[in-house]
Amino acid sequence: MSTNTVGGPTVEQKRKVVTSIPGPKSLEMQKRRIEVVSAGVSSTLPVYVKRAGGGIVEDIDGNSFIDLASGIAVTSVGNSHPDVVKNVQEAVAQFTHTCFMIAPYESYVRVCELLAELTPGKHPKRSALFNSGAEALENAVKIARYFTKKDAIVVVEHGYHGRTNLTMAMTAKNMPYKKGFGPFAPEIYRVPTSYPFHDELSGKEAALHAISRMEKEIGADQLAAIVIEPIQGEGGFIVPAPGFLTELANWAKANNVLFIADEVQTGFARTGAMFASEHENVVPDLITMAKGMGGGLPVAAVTGRADVMDAIHPGGLGGTYGGNPIALAGALGAIQAIQNEKLIEKAKHIESIMIPRLKNMSSQNQLIGDVRGRGAMIAIEIVKPGTKDPDPDKTLKIVKACHAEGVLVLTAGTYGNVLRFLPPLVISDELLNEGLDVLEKAIISAS
Ligand SMILES: Cc1ncc(COP(=O)(O)O)c(C=O)c1O
Repeated sequence: MSTNTVGGPTVEQKRKVVTSIPGPKSLEMQKRRIEVVSAGVSSTLPVYVKRAGGGIVEDIDGNSFIDLASGIAVTSVGNSHPDVVKNVQEAVAQFTHTCFMIAPYESYVRVCELLAELTPGKHPKRSALFNSGAEALENAVKIARYFTKKDAIVVVEHGYHGRTNLTMAMTAKNMPYKKGFGPFAPEIYRVPTSYPFHDELSGKEAALHAISRMEKEIGADQLAAIVIEPIQGEGGFIVPAPGFLTELANWAKANNVLFIADEVQTGFARTGAMFASEHENVVPDLITMAKGMGGGLPVAAVTGRADVMDAIHPGGLGGTYGGNPIALAGALGAIQAIQNEKLIEKAKHIESIMIPRLKNMSSQNQLIGDVRGRGAMIAIEIVKPGTKDPDPDKTLKIVKACHAEGVLVLTAGTYGNVLRFLPPLVISDELLNEGLDVLEKAIISAS
């Protein structure tokens, strides 16, 4: 039986369901949890993890799940990838923290060198490192406002940018992200996006709608930046129609508005390119990233034009933990693994397996309204047969059936009717296909 690569935990690469889900030990843990963990923090699949690696997550009851989630697009190189483990072990034995703002260290500089090389565009770039995606977004907005001396920020329908006060304002969906948590930060404006399955517009037509709103309702002279995910993540893996991003980026350039690509979910090989902006040949002024960057460790970044990033006064950017050396050791390991193991190619390979299989399922089952995505960021939209109306109940039924059979899948979408798949890029074809077999049965039984 195959196991994952050497180093880290050796996890048998086999789906195994030996108890009801959740199993008895997880249910015991759940009892302890509800006494001490806020009810506001929920878990999609309340099985407690013992170890994970390759394409498998193993729980404390001995169940092994095929991982089609990667901890929401984080463990793209697989859990406890040997390069990540080795780097982190070495780093933690050297020093745990000095604070880069107090006494700096090489790994911060090295990561920024790599970000300058790996992000789109050949222009001079600078980076600043943070702890989470939302923190990167907060800082990108600070930087854009400072540089342009303008206040307004544009985001799009279905956008997701985090859960801090500013990023909640930037996030579209009310439940569960915003309800009751306001008032929200001001000067955030939402314009139409490109959602080909629903709007049936070309990229250019959709962009003209957004541009008209920006010009008429905000004014380019008030607008600091457009912040957009090149493929929308939590909003439902919405791939914009070709040309949409380019039109927006060109308009931004012509109007002294910064174009900020939020690549927190799409970055680091996930979509079959190092960054999803590359699919449209868009070179953003600033890029925010996190998730897949750290190979499971919390690290985030803003990378962008040197003139924009260097405009900030010394001390204007930072934070106690931003660019923590242990997290950066993880990032260096993850980037090395992406390059050495050709994980961009692997993401394309995953797409080449998933899209035809899902399209085939869609041709046989009217519950699947749309199949979309790039690389290993793929989704299906579940609808009421013969319509484009969302069916969140059926979506949940399918998810639950997959979980009960040992396949970890997630939902997304403003209407909760998108099933999204984010397998680790190191998953075997065998496990991926087995996961899709389970999904297919779950869809048939939900119909
Ligand atoms: C596109 C995007 N931006 C920002 C965030 C927020 O990142 P974090 O949860 O690390 O704060 C996410 C998280 O899902 C995301 O997908």
